[in-house]
Amino acid sequence: MPKMWDEIHEQPAVLERCIHNTGLIKEIAGQLQSQDIHLVYIAARGTSDHAAVFAKYLIEYLLGIPVALAAASIFTVYHRNLNFAKALVIGISQSGEAADVLEVIQNANQTGAITISITNAPDSPLAVAARFHLYCNAGPEASVAATKTFTSQMFILAQLVAEWAGQRNVPTNLKAALMKVPEKVAATLELSQDIHHKVERYLLMNECFMLSRGINYAIAMEAALKIQEATYVRAQAFASSDFQHGPIAMLDRNIPVMVFASVGPALKDIHEIITILKKNQVELIVVSNNREMLAQGSCGFAIPAMEDDLVSPFFNVVVAQMFACQLALIKGLDPDHPRGLHKVTITL
Ligand code: AGP
Repeated sequence: MPKMWDEIHEQPAVLERCIHNTGLIKEIAGQLQSQDIHLVYIAARGTSDHAAVFAKYLIEYLLGIPVALAAASIFTVYHRNLNFAKALVIGISQSGEAADVLEVIQNANQTGAITISITNAPDSPLAVAARFHLYCNAGPEASVAATKTFTSQMFILAQLVAEWAGQRNVPTNLKAALMKVPEKVAATLELSQDIHHKVERYLLMNECFMLSRGINYAIAMEAALKIQEATYVRAQAFASSDFQHGPIAMLDRNIPVMVFASVGPALKDIHEIITILKKNQVELIVVSNNREMLAQGSCGFAIPAMEDDLVSPFFNVVVAQMFACQLALIKGLDPDHPRGLHKVTITL
């Protein structure tokens, strides 16, 4: 099996390690609590940027603080500085080598922000540049397709938000729900045989859409990226709301749609888009912990029940990672070495 497959299966152990690494997170949350932060600004690329989208939903929902995702070109192409007074600026990069993310953090350091980097490389330029560094401790990731580094980034971000919210007395189940994530990710991995069998149906697929809403919009995007790089299928992700404002015109019975439909505040909207997809007789792949939603799909993958939908991205993404890896294998491709890609990509 490819390295990607092994690394997908390391995730319960990686996340278990994250659980026991909360000292620094508590210290940072204390600092943030005392600083009256008005804005969170996050810089990242690719998969790391999808962890940023996950964090945006968590922070805005639980803390009510606006989160902006960086346009790094403002710094690297247009050479402008931003005023980061009363801001928290986070840079996320598995390798810690992302030069544009580094430039954002360096600018933020000079303009009064609290800066945090999240990397899997504690001696990297980004790890060293930020005031605080949170280490993914995911172990070496050999496959070009990032998997365990992504879930560890999400886990660290969720721990930070849960701790920060706790110190502000915001009621949330997130902390308790996170404790159960490693065992539920392990349960989700048991779908591997099911995915192996069902993925054959998509052998000839060369286009697909990934849809969700709310916190799982990040996972629709990450699922599309994993499928693009591992299988070269033209996968496109949309929030189900945005999908209805134009892209829906592309619907075609020959283009499968994967929908992440976990039980939570966004389910009503996702149900609505599923109804539209069914009317259009599209090939529907449903990832859900709701029987009714699963029954709508030509193909369904059941993720575990959980006490807070905010952790559903961990299980949804594991299904998407396995689906992408298995699809690559039946297409005769090597998901560890996608054409034209390297493990570290430097952009400015
Ligand atoms: C994801 O599978 C890719 N390897 C890619 O999108 C990657 O996440 C991106 O290049 C960012 O890398 P970094 O996190 O090391 O900065």
